[in-house]
Amino acid sequence: MEANWLDVKSKLGTVFYALSQTIDEFDKDFTPEVRVADPRFGDFQVNGVLGFAKKNKKNPRELGEKLLIKAKQSDDLADCSLELSGPGFINIRLTPDFLRKWVSTFCGRCDFKQWLVGKTIVIDYSSPNTAKQMHVGHLRSMIIGESIQRLLRFCGANVIRDNHIGDWGTQFGILIMAIKREKFDITAIDPTAALDEFERLYREGVALTKQNQTFLDEARRELVALQKGDLENLHIWKAINTVSYRAFEKIYNQMGVVFDYVLGESFYRDKVDHVCNELEALGIAEKNQGALVVFHREHGRFKDQPFLIRKSDGASNYATTDLATVLYRWENFLADTIIYVTDGRQQDHFQQLFLTVERWFSAKNIPLPQLKHVWFGTVLGEDGRAIKTRSGESIKLKQLIDESIARARAIVTEKNPDLLSVEREKIAHSVGTGAIKYADLSQNRTNDYVFSWNKMLSFDGNTAPYLLYAVARIYTLFQRLNLSPHGRREPKSMADFSTPEELALARKLVDFPNTIAQVLHDLKPHDLCTYLFELTSEFSTFYKADRIIGETEDIFEKRLLLCQFVLYVLETGLYLLGIEKLEKM
Ligand code: ARG
Repeated sequence: MEANWLDVKSKLGTVFYALSQTIDEFDKDFTPEVRVADPRFGDFQVNGVLGFAKKNKKNPRELGEKLLIKAKQSDDLADCSLELSGPGFINIRLTPDFLRKWVSTFCGRCDFKQWLVGKTIVIDYSSPNTAKQMHVGHLRSMIIGESIQRLLRFCGANVIRDNHIGDWGTQFGILIMAIKREKFDITAIDPTAALDEFERLYREGVALTKQNQTFLDEARRELVALQKGDLENLHIWKAINTVSYRAFEKIYNQMGVVFDYVLGESFYRDKVDHVCNELEALGIAEKNQGALVVFHREHGRFKDQPFLIRKSDGASNYATTDLATVLYRWENFLADTIIYVTDGRQQDHFQQLFLTVERWFSAKNIPLPQLKHVWFGTVLGEDGRAIKTRSGESIKLKQLIDESIARARAIVTEKNPDLLSVEREKIAHSVGTGAIKYADLSQNRTNDYVFSWNKMLSFDGNTAPYLLYAVARIYTLFQRLNLSPHGRREPKSMADFSTPEELALARKLVDFPNTIAQVLHDLKPHDLCTYLFELTSEFSTFYKADRIIGETEDIFEKRLLLCQFVLYVLETGLYLLGIEKLEKM
């Protein structure tokens, strides 16, 4: 079987298109839409004939019949059984012969690298603000961003992971004022308690500014001094950022997240004036009540809501920084695509940013990189509201992760009290962090979801422990057989898949590449989770019903091959979700 059969769905599209072009009634505008079919009727269905026939005032059934005749003569489709249904749909069933060839060819060898080879993609994720601890609101960008960047890399892209931290905001004026008032010695700070201290100082600073205008003026003066390069203030600012980032890194280490660059907002502070000047000179930005703004009047919703790029006091803002960032990424990373992973509440910001960049780049006559906002909903508590601690504060990410690991440790200890402590820790870490990641990734990212410890740590259902356990089970099987789970086998004979469980499992495996294609297209990892969950369920059914050990060689080999392929897909899938697999649980 040839390599271009890896993604059966897309290959069928190519084959049917080519066939249609040999038939007079079709023309180049015909698009065969291949879908995964209802299993009662087939594995795939080719649609598109109906729409094409209607548009061209032809009889769909007749066109379908002509296409079917060609398809039945095609060598490419020799191992498929084909049938016409309804007004010109073609149902395709993959024969056991096809499935055996496909599974043997691609077991452990699915190469997706050609899909994005040559593309440079910058992905901007996590990106928390400094001087604060990361809280549960920072969970999703980190988890979703990490999964997407792994997928892009897996599909061959040159991926640049950039953590665009918020290290240059107005919070520093207040914080520096509070630090100076308290004569707080920042050089002597205990790093483990530092962020709590900064948060306390910030709260106190805010309380002062609310009390009295003079404090507000003082905070503003400190901010302006910082922005003008006052050395004392810069020194305090730098110390705060260093300590903050160290705390972020602990969480990144726990969660297996790594960045190539940490170019925060401060990195662009000397690049923003140029952007404002250029946009004004090009006539894209205009003065409005002392501020500099960009109107997108052609865009209904933004007609009366201009994009503010310089405040009336002359200060730049989030928008200005993001404009400078696009330019930098285009010039220095030669980005073809830039992806931003943030909360859904920033949709307006990114839409206006993208519209502005479009006009700006077209005025400069330079090619526009693809800009994508990958946004997500809120994590809710079991009461259906944004998740909070009992006292109403945001839950710190560190506590959340530690608690998950502790809960996983308790479950594992109960299930398997004889584990060595190193093994137990490894399992607790993988299950604890994996459960949080999977609970997040398995939901359509544009929805809110309810955070539930019991659900996400359950060993049954669409959860990380369920998938991890299936992987460990396959490792145990290969251990019992004294065989390598990844070694390539060259069996002398192998029977065709024949039991309903074998056939269902093989068909599910065939769907893996088109699932990857789908997730890549929508950048929605929950489709991968659903697929992995369904595959694991099919595998469990197969594993219960169809014996492996003790069968004749040709049966043993085909079943072992299925186990190997399932293991390969589950391991790959977990990797793409950022979850560490376990060989023993
Ligand atoms: N720091 C921002 C926040 O906490 C997220 C930044 C996202 N990236 C960007 N280029 N705007 O909401």
